This record gives sequence, structure tokens and C-alpha cells, in this order.
Amino acid sequence: MPGAIYAEGLVKTFGDVKALDGVDLDVPEGTVLGLLGPNGAGKTTAVRCLTTLLTPDSGRAVVAGIDVLKHPNEVRRSIGLSGQFAAVDEYLTGRENLQMVGQLYQMPTKQAKARAGELLERFNLSDAADRPSKTYSGGMRRRLDLAAALVVSPPVMFMDEPTTGLDPRNRQALWEVIQELVAGGTTLLLTTQYLEEADHLAHDICVIDHGRVIARGTADQLKAQTGGERVEVVVHERDHIAVASDVLTGFGKGETTVDQHTRKLTVPVTGGAKLLAEVIRELDARGIEIDDIGLRRPTLDDVFISLTGHIAEVDEGNGTDTAPEKSRAGAKDKRKKEADQ
Ligand SMILES: Nc1ncnc2c1ncn2[C@@H]1O[C@H](COP(=O)(O)OP(=O)(O)O)[C@@H](O)[C@H]1O
Ligand SMILES: [Mg+2]
Repeated sequence: MPGAIYAEGLVKTFGDVKALDGVDLDVPEGTVLGLLGPNGAGKTTAVRCLTTLLTPDSGRAVVAGIDVLKHPNEVRRSIGLSGQFAAVDEYLTGRENLQMVGQLYQMPTKQAKARAGELLERFNLSDAADRPSKTYSGGMRRRLDLAAALVVSPPVMFMDEPTTGLDPRNRQALWEVIQELVAGGTTLLLTTQYLEEADHLAHDICVIDHGRVIARGTADQLKAQTGGERVEVVVHERDHIAVASDVLTGFGKGETTVDQHTRKLTVPVTGGAKLLAEVIRELDARGIEIDDIGLRRPTLDDVFISLTGHIAEVDEGNGTDTAPEKSRAGAKDKRKKEADQ
């Protein structure tokens, strides 16, 4: 019996770009699937095919037990999609917008009001609740969009990078609302570039690249597959990064990744504490001052790097453009800058 979201051999091409190249998915009812992949991997295309916004060239999809290609209108009635169906009316206040969504879905007025008030509170919009939403900042608008998608809890929900650009407090609020919905039986497909989010929320993870599924499993299974440990070093001086990187690569079982901003270098290793002691001696012999050094298990970020060859990047527009080559070091900085004011 297929799950609440099921896809088999989904293919979608745009000109000569194969955005989806035979994607299979099966998400059991009441669980969260984290769909991960670098920019341009095909995540948004998959979400759009599953939510009837795009017709795949071939393949089959069943959502909430309904064939997506045969009965798109019925599918639309059974799903929620963040930021798409929840069109905000600029001339209505935040509160009116949320109440209207409830009423559209035939929620009793009292209940729609209560739900609107609760969501405004949780997304820190209470103070602005009775202002027309056209006066909202970009970040507030985005939160109102998310709240609108969460007024009713359809059996199946899709969220395409819902927390991109949210500050940590609002991200936490969204996580909590998502967890409540899932506890209530909602099935969710979530795309995200924040791997700790997938780690936190997703029961299963599916990594795609170039339109193909390249790995799937629970976060723990993927981490175990990635194997080994990581040596992580923070050097005291920025000028020492290059030499430290050479040293680590000499001891490592893979590429050294560098975060210029935090002066942190990471390399996969096998050999545990004994190897760590050797790394420390070698760095010392080269005159490199260390602020911090340690051995740790792989994180989901490490899994992503080893599978796709690069770190997760935030896809700004949720859009259709392919990722240009960006420096690894800049990514974390960029996330900070994008954080909502
Ligand atoms: N409407 C479109 N027209 C042309 N190319 C598209 C369109 N939508 C997506 N693509 C291309 O398909 C690939 C997958 O895009 P997308 O699904 O948006 O990736 P992701 O969401 O993982 O970043 C990219 O190469 C992208 O440029
Ligand atoms: Mg996308």
C-alpha cells in the first residue's frame, strides 16, 4: 500500500535540462520526508509535480490516495502548500487574511478567529495583526504566508524551503507548528537547505541531485553510511588557514572544508584520538596556533558534502535558476545576512 505521498519514475524536462530524471518517493502517512539537494537538484520541480502545478513528462504520482495526473482538482482539495495557495490579500489585515483562509475552508467563524489569533501570536505578528498586510516588511509577509498555509491542517502538506530567511525564533515557531500538525496525522514533504532542520523534523530523508535520488534513509542511517569521524580545528589566525588545510588533508580521508569566517577547518578521518594527537603535534610543529580542536561524529552537513560534493546553500528565490559556483566559505555568512530582521 503506497504512502500518503507516492511517486514512481517522475521525469520532467525543460528544454535540454532534465530537472527530474526518474524520481521515486514513498512517504508513509503521518511522517515527514525531508527532500534535500543542492540548488538546481530538482526539489521545487518535484514539489510542483506532486502538487499539480506542473505536469511531469512521465511517471506516476498518488497523493492522499488520489492519482495526481487523473484527478488534479481532488488532489488540490486534500493538500496544503506553503506560499502558493495561501495568497495574501494586501488590503486585508494579517488577522483578516488568516480568518478568511479558515472561512474558505468552512471552518466555524469562532474557530477561524481562534486559529488566526494563535498563529499571529506564534509567528510574532500580534502587534501588526490589525494593520493592512501591505504595510508589512518582507519578513512579516513571509511569516503571514506561512501562517496562512497552516490555518487548516490538510492530510498532506508540502513546504518548499519554508524557513529560508526566517530568524531563529520564527524558525523555532514554525518547527513547533509543523510538529503539532504531524502529531495530528498530517503527512509532510519538506524541502530545506538547513540540514539541522531535516535532522530535527524529518523521519526520512531523500537526497536528490541532477533530478535523481542519490541517497535515502533516516538521518542516522545516512550519517552511519558516511562513516568515520571528523577532525575540526579552529585556527587562531586567518593567515594560517592555508597551511592548516594542507596539514589536515595530509591526515584526512577526504577533502578539507574551510569556513573562512569562523576559521574552522573540517576533514574526515579514521584513527580516533591517536590520530587527533598526531594532528595536534603536526600543527604545533608548523607554528599554527589553535583556538579549538576536536573529534566528532558526522553531521548531516557532512553527509551532504560527501554525497553532493558541496555544502548546502540557501536557494534565495525558491526559483528556477541553477546554482552558480559559490565559495564554500561564504555560505554561512550569507545565511546570517538573510536572516529576517
Ligand atoms: N520553468 C523552468 N524552465 C526552465 N528550466 C527550469 C524551470 N524550472 C526549473 N528548471 C531547471 O530545472 C532544474 C531543477 O530546478 P529546481 O527544481 O528549481 O531545483 P531546486 O528546487 O532543487 O533548486 C534546474 O536546472 C532549473 O534551472
Ligand atoms: Mg527550489
